[in-house]
Formats: sequence, C-alpha cells, structure tokens
Amino acid sequence: HFFFFTTMPPPPPTAVSPTQDDLKRMAAHRAVDYVKSGMVLGLGTGSTAVHAIRRIGDLLRRGELSSIVGIPTSKQTEEQATEAGIPLSDLECHPSVDLAIDGVDEVDPHMNLVKGRGGSLLREKMIEGTCERFVVIVDESKLVDCIGGSRLAMPVEVIPFCCNYTLERLQRLFVDLGCTAELRIEKGKPFETDNGNYIVNLYFERDIGDLNDASDRILRLPGVVEHGMFLGMATTLIVAGKLGVTVKEK
Ligand code: 5RP
Repeated sequence: HFFFFTTMPPPPPTAVSPTQDDLKRMAAHRAVDYVKSGMVLGLGTGSTAVHAIRRIGDLLRRGELSSIVGIPTSKQTEEQATEAGIPLSDLECHPSVDLAIDGVDEVDPHMNLVKGRGGSLLREKMIEGTCERFVVIVDESKLVDCIGGSRLAMPVEVIPFCCNYTLERLQRLFVDLGCTAELRIEKGKPFETDNGNYIVNLYFERDIGDLNDASDRILRLPGVVEHGMFLGMATTLIVAGKLGVTVKEK
C-alpha cells in the first residue's frame, strides 16, 4: 500500500491589498494631522482631497477640532465641504490661509506639480499659492520622474474668446518639444471651468526641461489665464503606497 501524503501548508489568510482609493484616504488622513483648531484651510478638489474634507468634518463633529474656516478651491469642493459641515469663507474675507491640502495629477522629485485635470487649477493656484503650508496628498501612481514628460495632459485655462487661436499659439510655443494642443471637450461641448473659461490640454513628446521658462512663456500669451504647473509651491508631500505612508518636507 502506498500512501501519498502531500502536506500543503494552508494558504496564508489573503491579505487584502489596499485599493487606490484606500491609498488616497490614507494620505489624506495623514495630512489632516497637520490641521489645528482655529486654522484657515485651503480645501482642495478631487477624489483624494475629498477624503481630507470628510475627515475634517468628522473631527469637527466629534469636537476634536473647532473654529475651522475652509476656503474651497472649486464649486464641487464647496458642496462637499458644506455637506461635511465645514464653515466656509473666501480669500477676500480670509486672505491669509494657514494650510492647504490637495491632490495632484503629477509630482516630480523636486515637488513640482501638475494640477488641473479636474479643471480647478486657477482657484487652486490662487488659494494654495498664498498659504503658509501646502500639503500635497497622493497615492504612489502620481509620482513621475519629470513633469510634462509623461505624455499626460498639462492643462491650461484660457478665455473662450478665440480659444482655437490661443490653442494654436500655445502649440507653436513648444513645437520643438513635439507639443500638441487640444481643447478639452466634455459631453460634446468645451469643458467650462468654474470661472466660465475653457481648458486647453497640452501634450509633450519630449521633457519640458526648464519649467520656469515654459511657465513664463505660457503666461505671456494673451488669452491664457493660468496653467497647471505648480512650481516650488508644495511644502509637504504625503505619499501612500502599498508599503505605507511617507512624508517629505521641503
Ligand atoms: C483638480 C486637481 C486635482 O487635485 C487633481 O486632478 C487630482 O485629482 P484626484 O485626487 O481626483 O486624482 O488638480 O483641478
């Protein structure tokens, strides 16, 4: 008689790996550790920032935070923050913002950012450009070696007047970088920002190189309102990945 015993160890309990949304939440909750009672807060826009908004709302409800004033960076954020019970204001009433928390589309090793694929870059830049501390929250998919070289969109907000003319001129600015420009279309119409403007997406075949020079050239074009490169603005970067959360200070 032959007995074959195959001793197979039981499969390890399946460790559920965090989803991308779990990672966004982890980064956002870590950022809310920086929030103190009495602060004026810039509230970012997007699927990562909303986790910070909800967390701040929870802490206010539980009495662990008080006297917070939020400055929303978009109409969408305004609605989410109202729902979360965060008292809101604006830059005219509260021109000095203590802390802003926001997600990004791309972040490079120098903490330069691309933002605005959600279309809120102008208000984000106005609010996040004035604050004491700007905390960027990302899951690790947002990390890039250099911004603009990822072949993903670099958004530019333009006024609707002769927007195709502005688009052509933007494209011609970076012809040596293999740049193509496209008007962002949604539901068959040009996407309209909260400010009533349009978005031109720039795509680059080659790395932009000197980002400050590219920024100056874009901003000098009449018809351009703002672009999505946020250079030298982030002070803290919180990255959530499969191995945990890391914090980098400038
Ligand atoms: C909106 C933005 C967003 O912060 C950016 O698009 C990231 O969004 P998400 O957290 O949903 O990935 O800049 O204008």
